[in-house]
Amino acid sequence: MITIERFILDQEEKYPEATGELSNLLYDIALAAKIIAAAIRRAGLVNILGSAGATNVQGEEQQKLDIFANETMTNALNHTGRVCVMASEEDEQIIPVPSQYPSGKYAVLYDPLDGSSNIDVNGAVGTIFSIYRRVSLEGRGSEADVLQPGCRQVAAGYVIYGSSTMLIYSTGQGVAGFTLDPSIGEFLLSHPKIVTPRVGKYYSVNESNFARWTKGTQWAVRGFHGDRPEEITGKNSRYIGSLVADFHRNLLAGGIFMYPADSKNTRGKLRLLYEASPMAFIAEQAGGSATDGVHRILDIVPDNLHQRTPLVIGSREDVGYVADTLRRMGEG
Ligand code: AHG
Ligand code: MN
Ligand code: MN
Repeated sequence: MITIERFILDQEEKYPEATGELSNLLYDIALAAKIIAAAIRRAGLVNILGSAGATNVQGEEQQKLDIFANETMTNALNHTGRVCVMASEEDEQIIPVPSQYPSGKYAVLYDPLDGSSNIDVNGAVGTIFSIYRRVSLEGRGSEADVLQPGCRQVAAGYVIYGSSTMLIYSTGQGVAGFTLDPSIGEFLLSHPKIVTPRVGKYYSVNESNFARWTKGTQWAVRGFHGDRPEEITGKNSRYIGSLVADFHRNLLAGGIFMYPADSKNTRGKLRLLYEASPMAFIAEQAGGSATDGVHRILDIVPDNLHQRTPLVIGSREDVGYVADTLRRMGEG
């Protein structure tokens, strides 16, 4: 039985120069994940009770959970002296570390609750996190510390609150997965080295946008339907509408997730810093890949905290098929 604590310590021992700060930062996130997991479990109960009478409460509860997850992440990180600045999908501006607390050497970014529209139907949701080393030379952290290309992440991961709660992370030495044992309140190592299949059996995309996609995207998705057997073998469709859950399934079983640009969302829907970059880091560490259709996500230099990007992520050959198709059709 290997707890997440022991695993992180074992990993750290391989690096004599490590100070233990990153390890502690990962524990902080694991603690926040346990707190959020507990709240989500109760939110289901509140929703069931709420639906009997007051419909408004459901909406309010869900909103509260978004805020609760955000505050839980921020409060788990801001006082430890390990972080200089944070950024969250839920906050317009960067989140400074309050002046009474020491400033640290890492910048942490997060989507505190991903897939939040799934909460009131008891669907899987998640938390996504991304960690960079501080680059600003003075002061207590700045936008420069969070506006870094994904390839500079020192760690990234996500928590999925599904039929069980799992935490998946990478510090750049492969991907490990832990399952929360609720009876002892510990994350235990359940997936020591996650490697995603080179070719997937699933494709995940919101097909209601089909008519608004470019010709190239339509062509590639028709390939996934099985309409272009000379180019690619057809796949099975799976889509929940929760990036963490859709990505997680495809990571383990093999598959491709896409949220392409369309005529309404010309830069796609998902956020580069809180969603695309950390997931791309995990995908690559598991042997998969991630692009905005044609370019590697981890190479994109952000200029805006909340910038969006099209995302094509998962099994390497399938992501490559989309890039080849788009290029061939002059969309690269
Ligand atoms: P969030 O709940 O953090 O706002 O993210 C929702 C995202 C993502 O999880 C999912 O992949 C996507 O929105 C689904 O969008 P559609 O409903 O347009 O398919
Ligand atoms: Mn999200
Ligand atoms: Mn969110």
